[in-house]
Amino acid sequence: MNHPHQTSDITQAVLDRLADDTDPRFREIITGVVRHAHALVRELDLKPGEWMNAIQFLTKVGQTCDDKRQEFILLSDTLGVSMLVVQLEQARRSAQALADQAAGVKPTEATVQGPFYWQGAPVLPLGSDIGEGMPGEPAYYSGRVTDTRGQPIANCCLDVWSGDGDGVYDMQKSGDAGMALRARFHTDADGRYRFWSIKPTFYPVPDDGPVGDMLRAMGRHPNRPGHIHMMVYRDGYVPLTTHLFAADSPYLDSDAVFGVRDSLIIPFERHERGAAPDGRTMDRPYHSARYDFALAPA
Ligand SMILES: [Fe+2]
Repeated sequence: MNHPHQTSDITQAVLDRLADDTDPRFREIITGVVRHAHALVRELDLKPGEWMNAIQFLTKVGQTCDDKRQEFILLSDTLGVSMLVVQLEQARRSAQALADQAAGVKPTEATVQGPFYWQGAPVLPLGSDIGEGMPGEPAYYSGRVTDTRGQPIANCCLDVWSGDGDGVYDMQKSGDAGMALRARFHTDADGRYRFWSIKPTFYPVPDDGPVGDMLRAMGRHPNRPGHIHMMVYRDGYVPLTTHLFAADSPYLDSDAVFGVRDSLIIPFERHERGAAPDGRTMDRPYHSARYDFALAPA
């Protein structure tokens, strides 16, 4: 005699085992996980060896993580899950901003945080150069942060980070190289910011681990178009995590992590050496990039 909870009803049997007093949101999430995992196994008619491969793959993803390398974020990013979560959050946020009758400026679009954020970047004065001595062509970044009514947000933090001109992040360098090409800047009374760094170039996501094996098996390249990361936040506003993409970069139409949004692609204007917009004299050619951010009220 086959007990109904042993085979065909195994999905329901697992769900029935959930205690009544579990946290409601946890209950919703774990129910979805069980339903979808069971449906996936059924849909694929998954074989035991294939399930073991999946477990070994995820084990390797975990083992590849250390205090600087986050292979699980990379897995989520390259499967488009991170960007999907970002898009849902943005849609939620835009609905709130639209509900705000006086809102006239669209909040800046968000994109993935990626695996290279490092908390605690140095706080530097506006106009500082974080690209000094690093490989890459100098670039002057400037713009303004406002709310969705166009009012400036003073003392707003811009936490910026990027790889160098060869597309390599400080975290990827061997040994204890320390932080590079990262800083936190705060807008002035008029919401303006300015700083120097390098013009970001395209780079491959780390592809020497299990996620790289997966990309190769999928016949995909691992490259991301050139971008600089920004986290823009101040109390009272919805914090923004985004990038600015260089308009002339390759891979804008095939970003390995699906993070490109048209509104975040900006031209990097090239200038010959000479007087820069902030009065500095540049002894080599440089670029300039302008972008205004808008934050939704919290
Ligand atoms: Fe990046």
